[in-house]
Amino acid sequence: MDRLKKKIVEEGKVLSPSVIKVDAFLNHQIDPVLMKEIGEEFASRFKELGITKVLTLESSGIAPAQMTALSLGVPAIFARKKKSLTMKDHLYTSKVHSFTKQETNEISISKDFMTEDDHVLILDDFLANGQAAKGLIDLIEQSGASIAGVAIVIEKGFQDGGRLLRRQGIKVESLATLSSLEDSTITFETQEVSS
Ligand code: G4P
Ligand code: NA
Ligand code: NA
Repeated sequence: MDRLKKKIVEEGKVLSPSVIKVDAFLNHQIDPVLMKEIGEEFASRFKELGITKVLTLESSGIAPAQMTALSLGVPAIFARKKKSLTMKDHLYTSKVHSFTKQETNEISISKDFMTEDDHVLILDDFLANGQAAKGLIDLIEQSGASIAGVAIVIEKGFQDGGRLLRRQGIKVESLATLSSLEDSTITFETQEVSS
């Protein structure tokens, strides 16, 4: 997706050889026009699969998940990282360890919103080591629902998550895949079909 890549290059800030800050359009301030295009692009890549729900993790997955769900005509659900006041039990829960942040979060969704009849698209803003996706897959499996695929806005191709998921036979679609952030330079994988 050329518009997304242009945004990453023009507004992203390389913080280290493995981390890029995209607070200007995705992780803090949100570009709604870009989110709409992201939603339409994911919908076109997954529309034939009979998806009934889009599942993400709060907070930064919500904006692109919401627009993708809108384009697919289905609800979006975000797994919570903290127990809410009104959501104490009747939950599926899993643990997600972040190597980047060196912390473990318990994530949860209500049993009310996912059943064995659902076919679920997992969506997240970043794919790094794949731990968030793994936790979301665990929640889906607990509910008896099936996994349609994984939609990622920015994949860090130099980390293991994408390989781990694809090796399990899961369809993973990333809109921009970074091959390197070395020397403060943003490099994309080139074999992607740009759209
Ligand atoms: P993993 O799930 O693929 O294993 O990822 P990891 O633990 O490394 O990621 C932890 C958090 O850091 C996630 O956000 C993820 O989106 C974010 N993240 C990972 N790599 C980058 C990066 O290079 N740049 C930016 N901007 N974020 C990155 P989170 O803690 O869930 O926060 P939220 O933004 O969703 O609230
Ligand atoms: Na994030
Ligand atoms: Na995230």
